Amino acid sequence: MSLGEGNTPVISLTRVAQSIGLDEVFGKAEWMNPTGSYKDRIAAATINDAIRRSRRGWIGTSSGNGGASMSAYGAKAGLPGYLCIAADAPAEKVRSIIPYGATLLPMSELGIKEMDAIGELADEFHLKLSVTAYRYNAEGMSGAEAIGAELRGQGDFTHVYVPTGGGGLLVAVARGMGASSSARIVCAQPEGCSPIVRFLDQEIEAPYVDKCTSTISGLQLPAPPDGELAAAAVVESHGWGSSVSDEETWAMQDFLSTKEGIFVEPASALAVAAMASDVKNGRLPTSARPVAILTGSGLKDLRRFTSSASPTERTFTMDDLRRRLQTSDANVSPSTR
Ligand SMILES: Cc1ncc(COP(=O)(O)O)c(C=O)c1O
Repeated sequence: MSLGEGNTPVISLTRVAQSIGLDEVFGKAEWMNPTGSYKDRIAAATINDAIRRSRRGWIGTSSGNGGASMSAYGAKAGLPGYLCIAADAPAEKVRSIIPYGATLLPMSELGIKEMDAIGELADEFHLKLSVTAYRYNAEGMSGAEAIGAELRGQGDFTHVYVPTGGGGLLVAVARGMGASSSARIVCAQPEGCSPIVRFLDQEIEAPYVDKCTSTISGLQLPAPPDGELAAAAVVESHGWGSSVSDEETWAMQDFLSTKEGIFVEPASALAVAAMASDVKNGRLPTSARPVAILTGSGLKDLRRFTSSASPTERTFTMDDLRRRLQTSDANVSPSTR
């Protein structure tokens, strides 16, 4: 059962490379998956496992991306779904789930306690549990290991930057790359929610923090379910943890869209922002050939682009249009631009 997920291309980010002072920088285009994020790979494996185990349907937790994926793949398989979604998920993420017809259950709290309790309900009601973490759904996570396996054939990367919330994606990428890979795995988290990075830096004794102040959707997990596993995978690859502010993340999201033509959601841009920060602080050598996992589409979170005035409120006549073009870049010859 598949909707065509996987086998995403790796794209050279030449302008990013130029601006941060590296010869080459790459992004793995996971936003090209059927519902716009890498979670489709996990949903495909999860639903196939549900079918194998004759589950009556599925129940899952999500900050948005996993929910869209599960709802689409559940619909394809004809399995009913119950989605416990973070109540503060971006509106576009929630709205894009509605068409698939799963039952949406907005939750005010979705921490480890709630995930454990939903796991018990899944067993009681013979539903497949879909939480995108090894702790709850190792069969499903195996679908994301293909990201690492594909990367091995897509270039000789020295570092893989992984935007990290619960830690499962990072573990899957590391497992997919395999023990013989020499690429270092870098765990990228927002400064306002960086339990795994702080644990790797030996600032805290376990990868848990009390609260999250970051607004980067998908990465707001103060108690990551796969935190220990992710930290171990980073150490084994001789990688490190790197955190950046939400503001640096948004600046990189803007750079990627205006200079590379790639509109990804903030979580994805954060991995590239961490790369830039690591070059600046001397951690990433200029000889590096890093790749960032660009996990989800920018269309999934338009909060930064929804101003009160609609962009189509003011209309132009043909005369306005001519005047506008005469005073703009379009009036400059390409060679002098
Ligand atoms: C777009 C995006 N990037 C990265 C992640 C992080 O994955 P993980 O929670 O497995 O660390 C998520 C998780 O929801 C996500 O939605």
